[in-house]
Amino acid sequence: MVKNSYKELALYGGTPLLSKDLPLYNTIGEEEKEAVMRVLDSGELSGFVASAGENFYGGREVKNLERNFSKFFDIPYAVSSNSATSSLHSAILALGVSPGDNVIVPPYTMSASATCVLFAGGIPVFCDIDDEIFCINPKSVESLINKSTKGIVAVNLFGHPAKLNELRKIADKHKIFLLEDNSQAPGAKINKKNAGTFGDIGVFSFNRHKTMQSGEGGMAICRDKKVALKLQLIRNHGEVVISDLGLTSKADLSNTVGLNFRMTEMEAAVANCQLKKLDSLNEKRIQLANYLTKAINEIPGLQPPKVFKNYKHVYYFYPIKINEEEIGITRDKFAEAMQAEGFNLRPGYVKPIYMEPLYQKKICFGKNGFPFSLNKNVSYKKGICPVVEKLQSSELLITNIVYPPLTSGHMQIFIDALMKVIKNKDYLGNAK
Ligand SMILES: Cc1ncc(COP(=O)(O)O)c(C=O)c1O
Repeated sequence: MVKNSYKELALYGGTPLLSKDLPLYNTIGEEEKEAVMRVLDSGELSGFVASAGENFYGGREVKNLERNFSKFFDIPYAVSSNSATSSLHSAILALGVSPGDNVIVPPYTMSASATCVLFAGGIPVFCDIDDEIFCINPKSVESLINKSTKGIVAVNLFGHPAKLNELRKIADKHKIFLLEDNSQAPGAKINKKNAGTFGDIGVFSFNRHKTMQSGEGGMAICRDKKVALKLQLIRNHGEVVISDLGLTSKADLSNTVGLNFRMTEMEAAVANCQLKKLDSLNEKRIQLANYLTKAINEIPGLQPPKVFKNYKHVYYFYPIKINEEEIGITRDKFAEAMQAEGFNLRPGYVKPIYMEPLYQKKICFGKNGFPFSLNKNVSYKKGICPVVEKLQSSELLITNIVYPPLTSGHMQIFIDALMKVIKNKDYLGNAK
């Protein structure tokens, strides 16, 4: 191999350090196969019926999953659904969002964390994030609260909990709700308390890419019995059972128009097996992430993810901050060179959500701007969240490689690739 020449870089035709594709994330084993076969053999692939009675709440596997989930997360109620998106929609409705209400959300997240607000006629108000843990910034939250504010959505991004104790206090002080989108952080904690249990509702995802996977699937957990019942009504055509349940007041009826967000018995059976593995899956992620962090700490210009004292990070993603001046390569060129070496290292995460046409043009339902038209003072102009914009434009790199079955051997090749790219920085153009 040619050394100390631009030709060494895979970007310019050199041999990539990673010679074959990384194994895909796959945590499905014999237990899941047996569980699915048990369901198939039973012939009952879904236990739900949309009329009052035991089956309104799902089948055996669904109820079993919900029981196990609430026990695992030490919280009274767990209501499953067919995705975290569905659980977020249900949560926003169950927490009483009405047309025209403002809900404060971070713009650096998966789009459903904000679109769930729109479906209830609410208006997302985007709030800047903390530049160390990338989650919603409590100080910015407080500066945005006004008489139209109904609640806060906190996303525990990349596996690190948001500053949930502070957010809880703010929500209580202003008598607004706190909804946690915990899709990326199942098993994360603050002082041994589970992320997902600080909010009035905490939402989880079991989609194919998540730590716990069942193909598709979601869960909403809460402490309030009435909120749990609303979640169940929204999940399964609530309007047709509400009178049978004796729920006739305005408050009971409000926001219970139901959908079909029901989880199948097969998904629940798989999720049940995955829940048993959650702690060990997280431990593997943490070990791999710690390997990377130890090495990246020694590389000037790169900053591994911060973990706050007494917080448990579960590393759905591994974010790295880059100082372009110090390292002498632009973030985008760095990512390109790493990708050529065989690694999925992305420049940034997602465009700040408010930059999407949905918010820039304020066209959502119909053509007249509903629900944005209900509160024209909410701005989605570029510049409203400078921390997010800077991270996305030049400061953040993220990779997903901290998943089992990858090993410390893979992590070392990733580090070797970082070093190889840095060593060849003169061939990659200077930073701005
Ligand atoms: C933060 C966050 N919220 C919500 C979702 C939506 O999850 P689901 O695919 O289960 O609807 C995701 C999935 O990528 C996510 O990362």
